[in-house]
Amino acid sequence: MKRLISSIITAITVMLTATSCGNYTDSNNTQAENPAHSLTNLSADVKASVASDYKYTIQDVINLQDFLLLRPTEEDLTGKPYDLTGDNRWDVFDLCLMRREIVDHMNAQSDTLVIYFSRTGNTEKIAEYLIELTDADSYVIEAAMPYSDADIKYQDDNCRANKEQNDKTVRPEIANPIDSIDSYDTIFLGYPIWWGQEPRIIDTFLESYDFSDKTVIPFCTSGSSGIAASEKNIAELVPIGNQIEGRRFPASATKDDVKEWVEMLPLNNEQSEVKLLISVNGQELTASFADSTAAKELAEKLKAEPVTVTLNEYGGFEKVGKLPWSLTRTDASTETEPCDIMLYQGNQMTIFYNSNSWSYTKLGHIENTTQEELKALFGEGDITVTLSLK
Ligand SMILES: Cc1cc2nc3c(=O)[nH]c(=O)nc-3n(C[C@H](O)[C@H](O)[C@H](O)COP(=O)(O)O)c2cc1C
Repeated sequence: MKRLISSIITAITVMLTATSCGNYTDSNNTQAENPAHSLTNLSADVKASVASDYKYTIQDVINLQDFLLLRPTEEDLTGKPYDLTGDNRWDVFDLCLMRREIVDHMNAQSDTLVIYFSRTGNTEKIAEYLIELTDADSYVIEAAMPYSDADIKYQDDNCRANKEQNDKTVRPEIANPIDSIDSYDTIFLGYPIWWGQEPRIIDTFLESYDFSDKTVIPFCTSGSSGIAASEKNIAELVPIGNQIEGRRFPASATKDDVKEWVEMLPLNNEQSEVKLLISVNGQELTASFADSTAAKELAEKLKAEPVTVTLNEYGGFEKVGKLPWSLTRTDASTETEPCDIMLYQGNQMTIFYNSNSWSYTKLGHIENTTQEELKALFGEGDITVTLSLK
């Protein structure tokens, strides 16, 4: 009776899975039923359970198919999670489910694209971490005329890379242009720093597509130079819907470093909904946070508790005072606007009621007041402000 029920269930399963089984025939099925292929005949550690977060590859399909056809397998199958049906053996049903998982994964296109150019592999390593962490699609920018070692020998004034970087109008041709970026909302754009800037081939790429409705997040690797100059170039080169402040990584950066950065990015707009509340002289000012690491750190600090800071009058354009902590500096030369809130020297907060040019990291911008109102509220002397989250 038990055998009869089992046969009926098997027959129903065959009917249900037939459409997704492609060309697999009963003969495969028969082989799969062969006790020689049953997991009970394999060592205990081969009895792999279904690993829910395992991403099956075409190689897995080949492995399982070879296994079921009694062929030698290319890989050691010890511990492979090939029992997708959970019936304690590997058979053709597992193969069907595996195939379906792969097809589903291929069809579920990501809305995030990691694009990068990397000549010596440092940026590529960061890009690979990013692709893994964000489950993004990827595209590698390759030069139609590849950069030889001599081309990037920057000690030689006349090497190709140096000549290109010295001429802002050069646009090296891309070997394999991606057809379209239309289906992506978020684009991570990675490159090495060449002479303080993005390689010109990045400019070729930027000018080839429409980024006006995209979120673009630059990232780079370098010996020591920062990302700011290249970010400014990118922002000025083409219209970009939302350019989020990027990050420079050293060649030694780890996956954890990249993870930490990705987790701080305001990609799901959570950050932009949190506001900075500044209480001063009995009034409340509301500010948006900037897309900087320092702004995120400030928000994190204020999550714990509000903080009171004394700001001193300075120069007829700002009030500046020491914060209780240092925040990450990503200073860039900036022409501030009235109502801007800046981090100065990593541990001071400056609120501008007039403009000034200096190197700052942006923390935010006060939204609910005008320059004149702010000036009047601040008065001429020192003030005390309490910062909290709204
Ligand atoms: C032509 C050239 C210019 C470079 N200029 C700089 C620079 O200005 N500042 C810096 O810190 N590193 C500079 N570097 C070092 C690279 O930015 C660094 O090695 C980077 O990680 C290489 O990335 P990749 O392996 O993805 O190509 C330069 C390298 C080359 C080849």
